[in-house]
Amino acid sequence: MTKGVCGIYILENPKTFFWGVATSAFQLEGSPYADWHLFDSFFEEKPEAVNHYSMYEQDLHLIRKLGVNAYRFSIEWSRIQPSQDIFNVASIAHYQEIIDELLSNNIEPFVTIHHFTHPVWFIKNYPWHNDNSVDKFCFYVEKLVKTIKNVKYWITFNEPYILLLGGYLDGCMPPNIKNKELAQKALKNILLSHAKVYDIIHTYIDQPYVGIAHNMAVFKPYRKNKFDMLLTKVAKHFYNFSIINAFLSGHLSINLPFSKSFEIDLPIKDKLDFFGINYYTRIFLKFNPFNFKNKFVDIIYQNKEGIGITDMGWEIYPKGILKVLKYASKLKVPLIITENGIATNNDFQKIQFIRAHLEKIKEAIADGINIKGYFYWSLIDNYEWFVGLNAKFGLFRVDEKTLKRKPTLSASFYAYIVKNWRMFD
Ligand code: NOJ
Repeated sequence: MTKGVCGIYILENPKTFFWGVATSAFQLEGSPYADWHLFDSFFEEKPEAVNHYSMYEQDLHLIRKLGVNAYRFSIEWSRIQPSQDIFNVASIAHYQEIIDELLSNNIEPFVTIHHFTHPVWFIKNYPWHNDNSVDKFCFYVEKLVKTIKNVKYWITFNEPYILLLGGYLDGCMPPNIKNKELAQKALKNILLSHAKVYDIIHTYIDQPYVGIAHNMAVFKPYRKNKFDMLLTKVAKHFYNFSIINAFLSGHLSINLPFSKSFEIDLPIKDKLDFFGINYYTRIFLKFNPFNFKNKFVDIIYQNKEGIGITDMGWEIYPKGILKVLKYASKLKVPLIITENGIATNNDFQKIQFIRAHLEKIKEAIADGINIKGYFYWSLIDNYEWFVGLNAKFGLFRVDEKTLKRKPTLSASFYAYIVKNWRMFD
């Protein structure tokens, strides 16, 4: 990277950097066959979320207007395989149309295979702690990969640890279980599926790039006492590091408080062509003996830097992206920011957020960290898990009643950044 006029950094080979936006199918389309559809009453009123399934041409137009060279989206498994014995070719053709349209506009599709939701038949009969889940999932993926054409970049799982936390520790996401032993089994099966899917994609596709999108946060003790410090150490190891260490060593090691340590060898060593990071915030942890509901842990967001708090209540902490990038660089594979974004109605705040995070990414690149892309979450406002349409992550606003898409200033700002391939000094 060279420093150009007025201290503006210019990426030397911009073509190798992916500037993108990210979405997920269920959050834009809903799906009557998905577990989440039954689980959140939001879908009684708005079964199609923001109706992207029908309005995708308009939304692709917005992507083109941004001038990005990459788009991350997911394929909704429950639409392709609504019941175990159906493989819906028409739905595949729908996603293929999106892919073809992107490619004809020189926009690289990044396809996420699993982004939180499942077909109802799967979660009822083969939830992740059931060892048969791996074969059922891989059977689907093999068919998908053999059918879909011209996708090079694949993300196997989005935020497997959030899936685990929600599905198996907090019990607030399907399959709504609260059980550490089952959580460990589920994690084993999810990572095993990643490894198998990695091989499947490498078997059927010429020179693909297969990665995973891992949610990383900065954890800090709320006070400097030994309880808060210990909690922080456990959280860092579990959420941020254990998966990275497992990719490095082929060994997953988990030590959660009040449970036996979990050690297992998994065939995932080096099964990564890039590593995706979803980064949003910093979290303070406080031991609270009265908080039975959340296992004696208070999760606190504070406006410590004075930059602000988002509509999700999350601290804006751009420095954190540099920290997590540094840690993930241990993997020695290209890193891609597969998600970074802010829920706010305030466009100036959104612009500040993007700019501040890009500055830190610039620093990381200058430090020699191999970063190959940045995807803003999200293209348009969409259904946010547990929150509905109130969280305004989009570069384009979606009118909740009419579902009309409207550009915002932050969309123009992002388009400017993308067009000029610049990072601000
Ligand atoms: C990460 C998840 O992948 C995405 O689905 C979600 O909407 C954003 N975080 C914001 O919470």
